[in-house]
Amino acid sequence: MPLTSPLCKKLGIRYPIFGLAHNIDVMIALAKAGGYPVFGAARSMPEEIADVARIMKEELGDLPFGIDLMLPANVGDETDREGSKADLPQEHQNFVRHLTEKYKVPAATKPTFFSSQIRSQQLFEDQLAATLESSAHSFASAVGMPPEMIKRAREHGKVTFSLVGAPRHAEKAKAAGVDIIVAQGYDAGGHTGPIGTFSLVPQVVDVADDIPVLAAGGVGHGRHIAAAFALGAQGVWLGTAWLASKEHALSEALLNKLLKADSLDTTISLSHSGKPCRLIKSAWSDEWDSPDAPKPLKMPYQQVLTADIVAGVNEHEVEPLIYEATGQSIAWFNELMTVDGIMQRLVGESEAALTAMNNKLAS
Ligand SMILES: Cc1cc2nc3c(=O)[nH]c(=O)nc-3n(C[C@H](O)[C@H](O)[C@H](O)COP(=O)(O)O)c2cc1C
Repeated sequence: MPLTSPLCKKLGIRYPIFGLAHNIDVMIALAKAGGYPVFGAARSMPEEIADVARIMKEELGDLPFGIDLMLPANVGDETDREGSKADLPQEHQNFVRHLTEKYKVPAATKPTFFSSQIRSQQLFEDQLAATLESSAHSFASAVGMPPEMIKRAREHGKVTFSLVGAPRHAEKAKAAGVDIIVAQGYDAGGHTGPIGTFSLVPQVVDVADDIPVLAAGGVGHGRHIAAAFALGAQGVWLGTAWLASKEHALSEALLNKLLKADSLDTTISLSHSGKPCRLIKSAWSDEWDSPDAPKPLKMPYQQVLTADIVAGVNEHEVEPLIYEATGQSIAWFNELMTVDGIMQRLVGESEAALTAMNNKLAS
């Protein structure tokens, strides 16, 4: 049975497989392999967003692609990162200094997004303006979703996606006029709510009514894709899958950790951003979970606190501490493949699973 859905025709894609990554090569490869790429731009400056969109348009021609941003509701107007860093609690600064010394983390030589920025309403507005003015076909929003933002995106001709983690978020997305709802369950890599994907998707489908729903969180095999359709979804949305791709070119220390991992090797932690976020387990998450650790700060201050050490850890591949957002689906990604190879595997498995399901029901 071919893997397709009405959304494929509507959006001009071959397979109902949507993917989010913060890496442009992954996104271009995903579109060429028949999926729908959504570039995660939450860690990108406005001018980078404009560049990414221009390059993707040049590479992909008429194939659609989206851009995803996140706007946490409680992020304020503060734009002075250095000033707010100096005001962070002493206990937290001491803890980060202790980790830096304990794991001998060298200073980063290059700035990163988080070591040079503080998330603020102004930064978000500039990111949004760059996204809406770009040639991206769609706009996706994750944490937080003022209805006004959806309206603006639609006025700019963008198809709108909203990631939701609870039925009441789906109600809000529907009221705001969102075109496609992504029901992202607890299994997912990244920021996540407490409802598991299997429980969440049918509830969101019921709320969404005639708005198409994508299932996200824990999708790593074609059997998940077949199951997503059985739950009422019209497609799937994956994030963890692409980390293990050749195109993503993760550092060796991080890649080795991910390829060896199974679902038990991920954990929900506040240590990344101050909000619950599923990460690969590491000395980083363990240290912040220890009884002596201070409670992570609220977003955006946790990343103001940790950006420099995290930049050093990533640049110098400090193996015990290195981490990334990673979902329970990591169990299905234990060898390095191209994005096209991952897509072919998922499509082949899905078609086999759909046929097997059909045969079982008919027998
Ligand atoms: C490394 C990584 C980074 C992510 N960053 C974002 C992001 O910036 N914005 C967003 O909406 N979702 C983000 N997510 C969540 C994905 O959009 C997606 O919902 C999730 O990965 C699906 O579950 P899976 O990880 O099991 O595939 C991220 C996920 C991962 C693994």
